[in-house]
Amino acid sequence: METQSTTLNITKTSSSRINEVDFDNLAFGKHCSDHMMICDYKDGKWQTPQVLPYGPIPMEPSAKVFHYGQAVFEGMKAFKDDNDKIWLFRPEDNFNRINISAERLAMPAFPKEYFFEALETILKLDKDWIKKGRGNSLYIRPFVIGTENGVSASPSDEYRFIIICCPAKAYYSNPVKVTIAQKYSRSADGGVGFAKAAGNYAAQFYPTNLAKEKGYQQVIWTDANTHEYLEECGTMNVFFRVGDKLITAPTNDRILDGITRKCIIALAEDDGVTVEVRRVPVKEIVGAANNGELKEIFGAGTAATIVPFLGFDFNEKYYELPEVENSYGARFKQKLQDIQYNQAEDKFGWRHEV
Ligand code: COI
Repeated sequence: METQSTTLNITKTSSSRINEVDFDNLAFGKHCSDHMMICDYKDGKWQTPQVLPYGPIPMEPSAKVFHYGQAVFEGMKAFKDDNDKIWLFRPEDNFNRINISAERLAMPAFPKEYFFEALETILKLDKDWIKKGRGNSLYIRPFVIGTENGVSASPSDEYRFIIICCPAKAYYSNPVKVTIAQKYSRSADGGVGFAKAAGNYAAQFYPTNLAKEKGYQQVIWTDANTHEYLEECGTMNVFFRVGDKLITAPTNDRILDGITRKCIIALAEDDGVTVEVRRVPVKEIVGAANNGELKEIFGAGTAATIVPFLGFDFNEKYYELPEVENSYGARFKQKLQDIQYNQAEDKFGWRHEV
């Protein structure tokens, strides 16, 4: 059934796939909800967005995204509270960031009203895909691809902005072990490390596979020039608790400006914890592990939320982290989720009611 909203065309599905999904055993990102948004850019402007049933999108093999990787994306979440109200979490930040990423990959900015109207429309249509209860969410994946046909190496002059949604539980179901990068790099000065460019993720797969063969689920990337400073994990930003201080690397053109990262900094400072946003020498963290000052390392990201690290490998030596009472990771995850699930005052203005 075709309906018209102020700016979108909406076609609702005639048969939901929701009963095919086992919501108690979700593999992250494997199932998509019933609706998606597609909006094409051509003749120099974004066309009318379409909300339509989730399904395949036919494309020509010569489309630029397949050859030159012109693709950026976002990760955001919607939550359902105990009264069945749906909340987006910091969606303005995702909107701003996808346009920052797009600019770096020579792609056009997407209009804000289309983004929000599409999100709210999909979330209302697919509200049953958002389950109540801690740990449940609808993971929202907006992305943009270059769709012009033709394999010349130049920016596409046609694009497609798509939003799909996947019911999600934890991205990592267990604490993770990580290894510190000494050979490979995720990003370089002047590069695209700060952008959520698809290629940043592809580039990590090979070295991450090597790490996995040795029993480490993730790599903590270091600066490409010297490998002396800890940066981020690729799927998450990283926090180090040394004594009672929390330390994390500053964002720059190599490091993603993580939204969960910003939340942890704000929550920790609000809680009276000293947060140092500064370069983090590998030597300092290894030294702190050796003298017992290193209490915790945890990752922070939208998909991952907050994940404790069990330990890390450096130079073929494994450093196990202690079990701490009053873990910062656990405390700030609780505070973050209290806000996300509308169980605490939203003093920072992070929730957006749908
Ligand atoms: C996210 O946290 O939203 C991301 O995009 C990370 C991705 C590896 C799932």
